[in-house]
Amino acid sequence: MIFVDSLVKEYKQTIRKDGMFSSIRTLFNPNFNIKRAVNEVSFTIQEGELVGYIGPNGAGKSTSIKMLTGILVPTSGHVEVNGIVPSKNRKEHAKQIGVVFGQKTQLWWDIPVIDSLRLLKDIYKVPDSLYKKNIDLFCELLELHQFQNTPVRQLSLGQRMRADLAAALLHSPKILFLDEPTIGVDVVAKERLRAFIKEINREQKVTVLLTTHDMGDIEKLCSRMMIIDRGEVIYDGDIEEIRMKYGEYRTLVIQFEQPVADFNVKGAELVKSDGTKKWFKFNRNEASPSELITLIGACYPIKDLTVEEPEIEEMVRSIYEGKTIDARAV
Ligand SMILES: Nc1ncnc2c1ncn2[C@@H]1O[C@H](COP(=O)(O)OP(=O)(O)OP(=O)(O)O)[C@@H](O)[C@H]1O
Ligand SMILES: [Mg+2]
Repeated sequence: MIFVDSLVKEYKQTIRKDGMFSSIRTLFNPNFNIKRAVNEVSFTIQEGELVGYIGPNGAGKSTSIKMLTGILVPTSGHVEVNGIVPSKNRKEHAKQIGVVFGQKTQLWWDIPVIDSLRLLKDIYKVPDSLYKKNIDLFCELLELHQFQNTPVRQLSLGQRMRADLAAALLHSPKILFLDEPTIGVDVVAKERLRAFIKEINREQKVTVLLTTHDMGDIEKLCSRMMIIDRGEVIYDGDIEEIRMKYGEYRTLVIQFEQPVADFNVKGAELVKSDGTKKWFKFNRNEASPSELITLIGACYPIKDLTVEEPEIEEMVRSIYEGKTIDARAV
């Protein structure tokens, strides 16, 4: 369904000159830097998949999405979405995709949401029956009726995001591109957005590519995750596999009856100490919590304890921080 091969996007960035009248000198005698934002990216997404596309700031996520949606023309490489080359056939492509950029609304700022949707109905030539069916669905799942008569500029961020999702899906596209759809949204509204994305993926078989900095979105929604860093895909695969590879460490958190001096115990490493509390990191393949508790408990009275599992966020952070892994090799 989505086919990306050796995709490259380079931006020409103007280098500003220092000193007096720098803007004018830059204007008349510009120097450029070529910034390769996306570097030889290749992947395939099958119909019905819900894929997370993550990476640190500036990694090239939005640039990739803009090429997939036809907003930007690739410098080289090939993109095909359902048989269409987005940048070459933007009109046809627009009919089969929906797009939400969390940072920027696609709706008309000053008019009520429902009027924006009516305009989009005409633009996309959505038949009356489909329009009605979709509006009913958005009322049920996104509570559109609560803010449909409000101008977009008066909406809260969570409402605006829901309005943008409704607009993106009004013509029942088969593919949905979401670039940070939960940014700045509170936990309750986030849950609602996630439930909606999940529902349209499951029920309507809409293929979704989702960019986010919220690992909760990924954990709740995606089974596959692609990690892009400095323009290159450094991981493409199962979230469970990442857990297996990076999730072999656990932390035993022990609260002692009394403050105790730092000490080491066989099979674990003391990683943090705070008052009567200590954190011991251990490899679950080499030590068991019960062994450790017995060893420690024999020396100092224990008041309370927990075993912490690594968060996906932590694992992803360690990948971002340079422990890169071969693409598809985990
Ligand atoms: N219009 C542009 N002109 C020049 N450089 C650009 C332009 N847009 C993006 N870039 C550069 O390309 C790189 C990738 O940017 P992109 O917006 O794709 O990152 P991102 O992964 O979406 O980051 P974020 O998580 O911050 O949204 C960055 O280094 C950015 O500075
Ligand atoms: Mg971005």
